[in-house]
Amino acid sequence: MTLHPAATTPYSNGMLSNDAPHERDRLESIQRNVDAFTTGILDGLPIDASWNCLELGAGAGSIAHWLAGRCPDGRVVAVDIDTRHLDTGRAANLEIQEADITREDYAPGNFDLVHARYLFCHLQERDDMIARAARWLSPGGWLVVEEPYHLPADTSPFPLVQRILDAYQHLYREHGADMTWARGLPALLARNALTDVAFAGNLGCMGGLGKDRWLPLLTQAAPALLADGLITEADLNEFATLLKDPAFIDIPQVTISAWGRRPGGTPNTSA
Ligand SMILES: C[S@@+](CC[C@H](N)C(=O)[O-])C[C@H]1O[C@@H](n2cnc3c(N)ncnc32)[C@H](O)[C@@H]1O
Repeated sequence: MTLHPAATTPYSNGMLSNDAPHERDRLESIQRNVDAFTTGILDGLPIDASWNCLELGAGAGSIAHWLAGRCPDGRVVAVDIDTRHLDTGRAANLEIQEADITREDYAPGNFDLVHARYLFCHLQERDDMIARAARWLSPGGWLVVEEPYHLPADTSPFPLVQRILDAYQHLYREHGADMTWARGLPALLARNALTDVAFAGNLGCMGGLGKDRWLPLLTQAAPALLADGLITEADLNEFATLLKDPAFIDIPQVTISAWGRRPGGTPNTSA
């Protein structure tokens, strides 16, 4: 792998930066809410103890550590543009790399599993990243990509959510993110010559008395949303009140996971 200094991306500054005071909360909230879904999908693959895995945009590292536990005779490379939230101490077969994955390259055929979650939607080069990640797979290796698909804000049954979600989606678009790109993932994997393409969805929850995972997301985005005049303090206070209402349950987004296999052989097995 060639190391380059990190480029400026939406994650290297501003609202999505790890400098943002609530970024750790946001990453942990993602893990709490989506890890069971992700590990369920990964468990459906024929993971072998000897596999080499690449975790792209590893965040706070829960999936990288999970993979390191599942592949004790292999290794896991966890790469992130900013690795400060990755705990290095827990696994000898876990290698942490700080790099911008739009600028890094790995040798073709290097990994039995490449996984990315909530990453490519933020990158301008998202389509190209699928092609590159597919090249990094060993013959028979699996690419698993999981990205959010935001439902149209104006279809929420809650006028306040319509306003807040519309503002949130606007802000993400301004940062170059595409929150609808995930819909094309299965087709994109197939176009990149992956076989056995399959996909699944995980419904997000807003409200639902304690099931909400949006408070950390909104808390982090709030300063930018307020500064741009997209929402008001009154909206945020109203949202906090709404969260206490047992009848406040909404589905703002779906996480679409899609996976496919590089043809030609089987990945490493320790047997
Ligand atoms: C929304 S977080 C998701 C974290 C983790 N994948 C998860 O689902 O728990 C996106 C992560 O991708 C990282 N990231 C963003 N752009 C990146 C890039 N160009 N290269 C490497 N990592 C990047 C961010 O630093 C952040 O940790």
